[in-house]
Order: sequence, then C-alpha cells, then structure tokens
Amino acid sequence: MVPLKRRKLGSSHTGNAGTNSGDEVKFPQVVLFLLERKMGASRRAFLSQLGRKKGFQVQELFSEIVTHVICENNSGEEVRTWLDSQASSRPGAHLLDISWYTESMRAGQPVEILDRHKLQELQISEAEVIMFSVPSYACQRRTSLENHNTPLTEALSLLAENAELSEDDGRGVAFRRAAAVLKALPSPVTSMSQLKGLPCLGEHSLRVIKDILENGSSIEVESTKNSERYNALKVLTGIFGVGSKTAERWIRAGIHSLHQLQDSGQTLNRAQQAGLEHYDDINQPVTKAEADVIGEIVEKAVVSVLPGAQIVLTGGFRRGKLTGHDVDFLITHPEEGREVGLMSKVVSWLESKGFLLYQKTTRNSYLESKDGPGRPASNIDRFERCFSIFKLAKEKETRTKDPQEVTENRVSAETDQNPNSDKLMNKQTDTPWRAVRVDLVVSPISQFAFALLGWTGSKLFERELRRWAGHERSMSLSSHALFDNKKGRYLRASSEEEIFAHLGLEFILPSERNA
Ligand code: UTP
Ligand code: MN
Repeated sequence: MVPLKRRKLGSSHTGNAGTNSGDEVKFPQVVLFLLERKMGASRRAFLSQLGRKKGFQVQELFSEIVTHVICENNSGEEVRTWLDSQASSRPGAHLLDISWYTESMRAGQPVEILDRHKLQELQISEAEVIMFSVPSYACQRRTSLENHNTPLTEALSLLAENAELSEDDGRGVAFRRAAAVLKALPSPVTSMSQLKGLPCLGEHSLRVIKDILENGSSIEVESTKNSERYNALKVLTGIFGVGSKTAERWIRAGIHSLHQLQDSGQTLNRAQQAGLEHYDDINQPVTKAEADVIGEIVEKAVVSVLPGAQIVLTGGFRRGKLTGHDVDFLITHPEEGREVGLMSKVVSWLESKGFLLYQKTTRNSYLESKDGPGRPASNIDRFERCFSIFKLAKEKETRTKDPQEVTENRVSAETDQNPNSDKLMNKQTDTPWRAVRVDLVVSPISQFAFALLGWTGSKLFERELRRWAGHERSMSLSSHALFDNKKGRYLRASSEEEIFAHLGLEFILPSERNA
C-alpha cells in the first residue's frame, strides 16, 4: 500500500499517471478508475476529464490505490475476472456502475453507494442466483463421483484430514459434512448467496469457501498444506499400522520423516515393519484393474477351500471409484454357519501360494444380545477380518519377463532382490510385483446385507446412515444388524434395499454413495 500522505501528494500535485493535472482534489479519500472495457477509449477520456474538473481523482492507470472501479455494460463477473488479472488491487475496492459516477458528477460530490450502484448486485439479481437445496443427511442424497466443486471440496477435505490427524474428530466430521454438501451440488458455486439455507455449512467452513470464491485460495488451507506438522503426520500415518496417536508421539520425539524414524531406533510392530518395507507401493493408488486381478485370486482361494462360498468387491471400488488406497472384499456362504473357519483356510491357501507379504487375522467377536446392541461403541465391526498386504504381479506389458499365469505364484523369491535399488526403503521399483493393501471380511449370510452396506462406504455416508437411524428412527445400525429401539427387536434384511426401506430412506445406489 502507498501511504496515505504520499498518495495525496502524488495525485494532487505531481499530476503523474494522468491524474488531476492542475485540477483541485476535493475528495482525497476517493480514488476513481474508469474501466475502458466496453466503455471505449474516447468516452472514457471524456468522462475522466469531466470528473477531474469537478475535483475527483480519476486515475489513468489501475493500481491498489484505486478505491472505486467504474464500469459500463460489464457484468460483475467480467470485472472480477479483469480485477483478478491485475497485479494488485485494493481488497475492499467498490465495483460500481457508471450510474454512480454520473450521479456523483451531477451532485458535484461522491453520492452514497446504493445497492443499485453496485456491480455485483446489479448483475446477479436475486432471481438470477441459482439457489441450491439439499437434504441434511448425506444418506438422503445422491452423491455421484462427478463433483462440480473440487477446489472447495478438496480444501475442506484437507482441513478435515488435518483435524482427524490431530485427533480432533468433531472438527473433522464438521469439515467432512460441509465438503459432502458441496459434492452433492449440481453445478459450481459462484457466490456465497447461493449457499443460504444449505445444511452442515458452519461458520468456519463458510469462511474457507468465501476465501476461495473471492481470492482463489484460503490462507488457512495453504498454510496447513505447507505446515511441517501436517506433512509429518501425513508421511508417518502413510505407514501401514501407524495411526495418528503413534505419529503424534513420534513427532514429539522429533521424528518427521521416514529416515528419521529409521535412525531413531523406535521399536516397530510387525504391521509397521511391513508398512515401512512396502511404503512406496502402499502409498501408490491401486487401480480398478489391479483390484480385479486380486479379486480373481481371492475368488479362486475362496472357492478352492469352500465350494459355493461367495466374494464381493466392496469399498470405494464398489462405488465406482477408479483407484483406491486398498481393496476390500466381503466373503460369505449362502448356508448360515458354513462360513465358520473359512478365513483361516483362505489365508492359508493364499499364503501357501506366496500371495501374502503380511497378514493379521482378527476373530469374529460379534454376539447378538436380546436387548439390542447396547452402547453405541459396541457397534464397531466384529467380523472375522484379515488385514493383509498382497504381493501382486505387475501387468505383463510392464514386465520384461515372466510369462506365467497370474493366479499362480509366479513371482519367485530370487527376483525380489535388486542391489541397485536407490529407493528410500531399500525397495526397488523395477520388481515384477507390487505390494497392495487388501482387507478381507467374512460374514454369515444372515448379516451379509448389513455387512455389504457397511463396507461399501463412503465413510461419511456410513456415519450419516447411523446418525439418521439413531436420531430420526430411534434405531441402531451396524455392519451386523439393525435394531429397532422402540419395538425392542432386530429388523432382518437380506438386501441393501430392505435396509433402506426399514430406515424409511429412498434406496441409494452404491455409485451414489460417494459423499
Ligand atoms: P476404506 O477405508 O477402504 O475406504 O473403507 P474406501 O471408501 O474403500 O476408500 P479407498 O478407496 O480404499 O481409499 C471402506 C468401507 O469400509 C468401512 C468404512 O466405513 C468404509 O465405508 N470400514 C472400514 C469399516 O466399517 N470398518 C473398518 O474398520 C474399516
Ligand atoms: Mn477401500
């Protein structure tokens, strides 16, 4: 900013940049600039001259000292675009229609700025604003993968992630809900007035949205993105088996990078060791094609150990995502009880064929109590579950040699080592295989629909389904069952459609659950 004193002197006495050469400045706080666009050069010159004669400061060149931008026949958006292209501008500068200028000329002084003078209000009349409206709960909305507001949703998701990494779940959910509302909008948001009445947009989220709409970015988001703490939390929780609590503890011990972690002598559990060893692969997105290849392998394992057993791809891939951070499968058998003991057999089969780099299986601990699920905390999944790291052969095209069948263990131990590796974790990039995180869940058929619904996500969609069930229907929903608290009994379902019906919700396709 030019100091006020110098500006006055500069504009009234030196006559630089085509300002009031000779004319007296009567209104030093008002610095005008007439936009030539659509007004034309000669009309602009004439009007500028007129203004200066009347004691107004009319600048020839645009700069940050300009307090009033005067335009003719331009839309607010056009002027905003032009303004954004300028090196610098005054944040609170008025964007005014020529009518304000001519009225001020007539009055011999700057007239009060009324709504009708303001460019944006002139252009975006209330009737023209596309007002959005969405239901409150994400499970009442259809949210496809097509998102018309990615700059806004990515910003809010980053703040959500940062809050979650900082163990501030309340704030994390608030940002996730706000992002989900914007994901459901049918077109891009262009002005704050369109957001009036939308649910889940708190003061903080609105502030971030406003910054991005008006300035193209949010200082809070940019500084979070660049903060050492956020980046350290991201790197460390990128290790499979490391949650935000562990990462936080390490950061307090001065560990911000993988190198520092390795040098620190911290003891790592088995999962974390595997996570560190396969860090690069695990942090590289899994493609749908890779998920399908793994699906074929798991299916082969499942039907080999229990004919008739079934497997379904769940998680983000079932919602139509093209990439994911892992691959999720749900396994069941049409005869209740036949699934007991299935997981260990599947895991043994996969292990014997060399498909698993790591696995940890948890037992089924779900027990249906007659009195219902009790505390909400006991709603967490208690299925038999296997967290694994798969050893997946790379596509044949990208491999130099290795013509063997994909469902056989064709990646031999000898090809694993490459002494020329320069990768961080001593893990070479040119191996014929990559590591992929795979989650397997086994469910009895009686719970299958609930498990399928619960494991398809998105995480926010699931959270909202449970919130809806509890708050709006007095029911408790989990990945195992639905309990009606008023009737005091479980509501059975053999399909996702039936569960939505029990909840009094319209059925939402998996591809529309991308909240
Ligand atoms: P994911 O974390 O795999 O998410 O959980 P995702 O949607 O597939 O995303 P990407 O593509 O992998 O990044 C999948 C679903 O499983 C449920 C989550 O709620 C989510 O809906 N889930 C996950 C559980 O129910 N319990 C868990 O312990 C983990
Ligand atoms: Mn997933």
